[in-house]
Amino acid sequence: MDRPGYRIRQVQPTDYAKLDVLIEQAFRTVPESDHQEQLLVRRIRDSEGWIPELSLVAELPGGKLLGHILLSEIHIVLPGGAAKLPALALAPLSVLPAYQKQGIGTALVCKAHARAGAAGFKLVVVLGHANYYPRFGYQRASAWDLSFPFAAPDECCLIAQLQEGALHQARGGTVRYPSVFFE
Ligand SMILES: CC(C)(COP(=O)(O)OP(=O)(O)OC[C@H]1O[C@@H](n2cnc3c(N)ncnc32)[C@H](O)[C@@H]1OP(=O)(O)O)[C@@H](O)C(=O)NCCC(=O)NCCS
Repeated sequence: MDRPGYRIRQVQPTDYAKLDVLIEQAFRTVPESDHQEQLLVRRIRDSEGWIPELSLVAELPGGKLLGHILLSEIHIVLPGGAAKLPALALAPLSVLPAYQKQGIGTALVCKAHARAGAAGFKLVVVLGHANYYPRFGYQRASAWDLSFPFAAPDECCLIAQLQEGALHQARGGTVRYPSVFFE
């Protein structure tokens, strides 16, 4: 449920300029960041994996944006390489520094997961903080023998299922992100 004081809604084109600033500010002091996340968001918006309904903002009544989340389509190649499962990548998640630790990130993840589940998606991957994402059901991908295409610590390569049994279907697969994530 949305917290008092702000609402969560789908991103609109009129938000794009504000989002560039918000995302840059959210990641400014994050040591692992390349400080290019706002450019990644722009590239995803121009790509095939972009799903407008799964791009959300937290907004104050006056129009100030406090947070943003983006889930976009990727896939998981199953062992043997013949079949692939559709999945989502959560990237990035941003909350303005002055508004962090007030539940906004949690509200954005929960709403995005609910929308994604209702749209029929079963799995979401994230390259993210090992202490943050497990509260939303994320587990180490390696626990399901899933490989990630990033040279990142094992505890940061995470996956959550939105439907019971989905992780069993994905076991042993390879997570494939589209090229926009590597430009
Ligand atoms: C990570 C982020 C999205 C969390 O949003 P938020 O609105 O501050 O988070 P919430 O208020 O919902 O949750 C707060 C909890 O998250 C924890 N948390 C916040 N940032 C964290 C981080 N970088 N690593 C681990 N835990 C973190 C807080 O310690 C707090 O824990 P508690 O509930 O046990 O007290 C936000 O801090 C942010 O934008 N950070 C900079 C950008 C970033 O790192 N994005 C994530 C990329 S994967």
